[in-house]
Amino acid sequence: MATPVPSHLLRSDIATAGEARSALSTAAAPSLADRRVRGIGFKDVTVAYGGLVVLDALTLEVRSGEIVALIGPSGSGKTTALRAVAGFVRPTRGRITIGDRDVTNIAPYARNIGMVVQNYALFPHMRAEENVAFGLRARGASQAVLRERVAESLRLVGMEAYAKRYPRELSGGQQQRVAIARALAIRPQVLLLDEPLSALDAQIRRSMLDELAKLHRELPSLTVLYVTHDQTEALTLADHIGIMRDGKLIAFGASRSLYRHPPNRFSAEFLGRANLLPVTSVQPIGRGLAEVRFGEAVLAATNPHGLPQGADCLLCVRPHDLRLRQGEGGHNALAGIVESVQWQGEANSIVLDVEGHRLRLTCAPLGEPPEPGTPLALAFDPHVVTLVPETSGD
Ligand SMILES: Nc1ncnc2c1ncn2[C@@H]1O[C@H](COP(=O)(O)OP(=O)(O)O)[C@@H](O)[C@H]1O
Ligand SMILES: [Mg+2]
Repeated sequence: MATPVPSHLLRSDIATAGEARSALSTAAAPSLADRRVRGIGFKDVTVAYGGLVVLDALTLEVRSGEIVALIGPSGSGKTTALRAVAGFVRPTRGRITIGDRDVTNIAPYARNIGMVVQNYALFPHMRAEENVAFGLRARGASQAVLRERVAESLRLVGMEAYAKRYPRELSGGQQQRVAIARALAIRPQVLLLDEPLSALDAQIRRSMLDELAKLHRELPSLTVLYVTHDQTEALTLADHIGIMRDGKLIAFGASRSLYRHPPNRFSAEFLGRANLLPVTSVQPIGRGLAEVRFGEAVLAATNPHGLPQGADCLLCVRPHDLRLRQGEGGHNALAGIVESVQWQGEANSIVLDVEGHRLRLTCAPLGEPPEPGTPLALAFDPHVVTLVPETSGD
């Protein structure tokens, strides 16, 4: 029997930190059957606040043991989607499943999920080990189980040496590790991460990314829904990526293929920086390639979306796929004028004007970077550039 969501958990103003904790609170210890590997399903899930739709008919599957990243600008509905899985917000329409169980009307504590939010959300008056033990205690775990699980969870995040510390005695990155250990201690089938690295500085974020990837290798059956606005995090960790915009899922696919072959302008610009050139007159030339016109130039590119002959579309070329080239002309060549050159340590970033369009190129540091105003020829391999339909993604 489905347990109705208690009304106090349906208030839309619950602090997310409180939610992360209350997802851990009282419930029976998971039975053996509950430990089955599980995926997450959204079917036509719509959430509205005061009549305003903020999540619009989301249909998405996170397969068992997979990491799916939901990525999108602030306000696009990512957190709302996560809260709907956790049970902190009730959809106005649609169903949510975990494994083969429809959890749409099931209370948060009975969903057996672990959740980590941006701002650590540890109990300040408890040591790290007590924080990690919290959910287990609430579930009435025995002392022996408690000890074993706390040690195991702290080990998984490399924090065994810090068990006795209070949150104030830990750095931001360490606190977030403890928060992850706390979410894992209940052995959830589903781990929900809402911008878990956003509050950390760049260097720690990178090492935490490696840690999260390692964690998933150690727990391959854990299903993870990872919300972020950071494309590097999504591309590094996720098997599949969903791109959100204005409450809608506007693209979904395997990370590599979504990056390589974005299905619309917004995806191309949001996931990795893309140069987009308006081109016309698609003409298939075999091997998945098509010929297009950009002004006077005839260029070849891959056509993964099967754009029809004569269509207007965009040529998507990533900054690191553009090559500087000696001399003029040749196959797949563009003529540009240097606007600016930026030295970025590991790379040079060059902005060029190509017939009124601004293109960015990144390359290994140049001995003598070109001066602004220098004409340069650019070229690219047709197999690494993609034709994108000229749609906004709606
Ligand atoms: N409790 C709430 N009450 C009213 N509006 C909300 C509430 N939570 C979120 N929203 C609105 O829903 C939209 C999506 O928010 P959210 O899911 O938090 O986006 P994201 O996580 O992608 O930044 C935003 O416009 C936000 O203002
Ligand atoms: Mg959010």
